[in-house]
Amino acid sequence: MGFHTFDPARADQLDDPTRYAYLSVDELLALFDPAADDVVADLGSGTGFYTDDVAAAAGTVYAVDVQPEMHERYREKGLPDNVTPVTATVESLPVGALDAVVSTMTFHEFATPDAMDAVADALAPGGRVALGDWTRTGAGDAGPPLEERYAAADAVELCEDAGITVHRAEDRRETFVLSGTL
Ligand SMILES: C[S@@+](CC[C@H](N)C(=O)[O-])C[C@H]1O[C@@H](n2cnc3c(N)ncnc32)[C@H](O)[C@@H]1O
Repeated sequence: MGFHTFDPARADQLDDPTRYAYLSVDELLALFDPAADDVVADLGSGTGFYTDDVAAAAGTVYAVDVQPEMHERYREKGLPDNVTPVTATVESLPVGALDAVVSTMTFHEFATPDAMDAVADALAPGGRVALGDWTRTGAGDAGPPLEERYAAADAVELCEDAGITVHRAEDRRETFVLSGTL
């Protein structure tokens, strides 16, 4: 795990729709182009804010989070029928043969070589990777402190070292996005 993990006492903040200003549903889905029968894991799913959007476009979604309190919040909100909460770390993913993994605003909390090796192991051949997170090159007006973040180039290196081919990686004003395939 990285520097810290998100405090469940602040979980309400994760359900604030103004977050789409930093990563929209359209941007997220364009990173991995989900099919209706895809099996997808959302890494660090939190209260399911973006998981709901992925679930609306995919077949089966594993909502992976290390903190059971986050799954509890998601259950209280209402889990879509095709979402299964999984309490686990990214570093020890208990799911496999995935068509895609996505992760929103969480890469900085799990960005290690071990975690990315686990991601690669969990993907089916040709499986897709979609990441969106706060960037170290950002303005720092919102999100975690700049020193806790990674830039797109850091994410590219960690992905490529794990055998994931990166097709697109961009730093924007406050966030980065990355898409790749195994
Ligand atoms: C900043 S929140 C983002 C939640 C969600 N992705 C979103 O955008 O609304 C980060 C979440 O990742 C989880 N997390 C952090 N490190 C993790 C790890 N190594 N494995 C699994 N979950 C992790 C935290 O418990 C927290 O719920």
